[in-house]
Amino acid sequence: MNTPDLILQKEVLRRRTFAIISHPDAGKTTLTEKLLLYGGAIHLAGAVKAKANQRHTTSDWMALERQRGISISTSVLQFEYGGHQINLLDTPGHRDFSEDTYRTLTAADAAVMLIDAAKGVEPQTRKLFEVCRMRGIPIFTFMNKLDRPSREPFDLMDELEKVLGIRSCSISWPIGMGDRFKGVYDRQTQEVLLFQKEGEANVKGKLQAKKFGGIDDPALTELMGEEAARVKSELELVELAGDPFDRERVRACELTPVFFGSAMNNFGVQHFLERFIEMAPAPFARKTAGGSVEAAIEPTRKGFSGFIFKIQANMDPQHRDRVAFLRVCSGRFYRNVAARHARLEKDVKLSKPLQFFARERVLIDEAWPGDIVGLLDTSGELRIGDTLYESDGGKGEVIRYEGVPRFPTEHFAAVMILDPMKRKQLKKGLDQLSEEGVVQVYSQPGLGDKDPVLGAVGALQFEVLQHRLKAEYGVDARIEKLPYLHARWLDGTGIDYFKNREDSRLLEDRDANPVVLFKTDWSLRWAEDNCKDVKFLKTAPLK
Ligand code: G4P
Repeated sequence: MNTPDLILQKEVLRRRTFAIISHPDAGKTTLTEKLLLYGGAIHLAGAVKAKANQRHTTSDWMALERQRGISISTSVLQFEYGGHQINLLDTPGHRDFSEDTYRTLTAADAAVMLIDAAKGVEPQTRKLFEVCRMRGIPIFTFMNKLDRPSREPFDLMDELEKVLGIRSCSISWPIGMGDRFKGVYDRQTQEVLLFQKEGEANVKGKLQAKKFGGIDDPALTELMGEEAARVKSELELVELAGDPFDRERVRACELTPVFFGSAMNNFGVQHFLERFIEMAPAPFARKTAGGSVEAAIEPTRKGFSGFIFKIQANMDPQHRDRVAFLRVCSGRFYRNVAARHARLEKDVKLSKPLQFFARERVLIDEAWPGDIVGLLDTSGELRIGDTLYESDGGKGEVIRYEGVPRFPTEHFAAVMILDPMKRKQLKKGLDQLSEEGVVQVYSQPGLGDKDPVLGAVGALQFEVLQHRLKAEYGVDARIEKLPYLHARWLDGTGIDYFKNREDSRLLEDRDANPVVLFKTDWSLRWAEDNCKDVKFLKTAPLK
């Protein structure tokens, strides 16, 4: 019989928890849908695209979601494939780009970087990539839309190195593109996946793969037709000068495996999924900060532990509930586990653990490292970055995971209320919504809550804020954009320099950390180059 430890080990090894990072229109929704098809979740695959439909529109602010056809909340899509449990963290990544998108990455063990092969690396991808690198999350690249005229594969890979500073190793190689797209060649198995448009029997059928005896196989030459000479010389060059796949370097975020395909045509998606499962890490040890136990906790450590990476309030206005999303990092989580709240130093009961599929909630009995659990937080005691762990029966061990950082905002605004009697509600709304990461709230030193400045990662967040202030807190607010482009947290002695300046503004975040807003790229660069006694930080100091 299995001992519990072996079960834990097995459950850890079979999990893959990842997020897709991309720029709007690269095909994230399409790829997500296709991945779900393989997970046997076909009936829900359409729900990803049909974000605007009426299936679960129970909350007020989902009305905004419907109007705009966007998904504001993050959900976790879970499915089984080939004996593996896949947790796909669905990150808002489009016009609804928000801090939530960044934070969700802290709960992932890998990221799939989806790139439109005609466009290459675009700005939002770059920002998300930087977060992954900062958090040490391995990255797998899927070059999409090869059915359309695309940039040359070498050019795309070169850009990964030049723009993102990451080396790449191609796992598959495209044979032609656009009208001449014939398929992709798997360099390891020497198989060619033959391109077929969706609808030509590749929806859920077997991979359309054909094995060859290497790149000089005459049958392959014939298949490639006019592409043969070029593809052969490209592949020779890749073999000779390209980086080989190296699990350790991928894990260290130095190397990204690259795949080519077409999500819309469901081409190369299954191949990608299978290789990804093989190459991507299972949940790994997570760093702690300031607890009483080891510096990093292995997922197979007995006794559950995890951290909160996301809070979502008022998902259902009928109940005005608040859901905290916990990433399980070690041990087996089970319903009613006696858990210790590290920050509050008290025991809490986790009696209503939920799992989400798109918008559906299911009460769960257990979860394993890599899984995401939603916790109904009726007492409002959970905050982003909080660690929960199984009480050890009085031994007094304390686990504290490294916090979840706050990220730099790029859109700024002042908020005005039409009814001065609503000041208190406004404060409550701003406190709670900033806790969720809808916006960050900065104050002017010495002025307390008066005239706060709001910062957002994506511009749409102000609309979300305005809508939710009205719907959930009864506050009619006017939002007035402010002409700043960048925010940096400051660390050092020369902070006074930023008092009373024209091109920048000195403020404090909610933890009284100094933050400076810059009006132009130039003023930020100038400050970075000239103010040597201050450090300009892209993330808030962790508390
Ligand atoms: P996003 O979530 O990253 O924003 O992208 P989404 O999946 O919505 O895809 C953006 C557009 O790109 C869609 O077209 C989609 O059909 C198309 N697309 C995705 N993958 C591929 C691909 O492999 N090849 C080609 N040629 N197109 C692809 P749309 O016209 O905006 O929407 P729709 O009317 O097709 O739904």
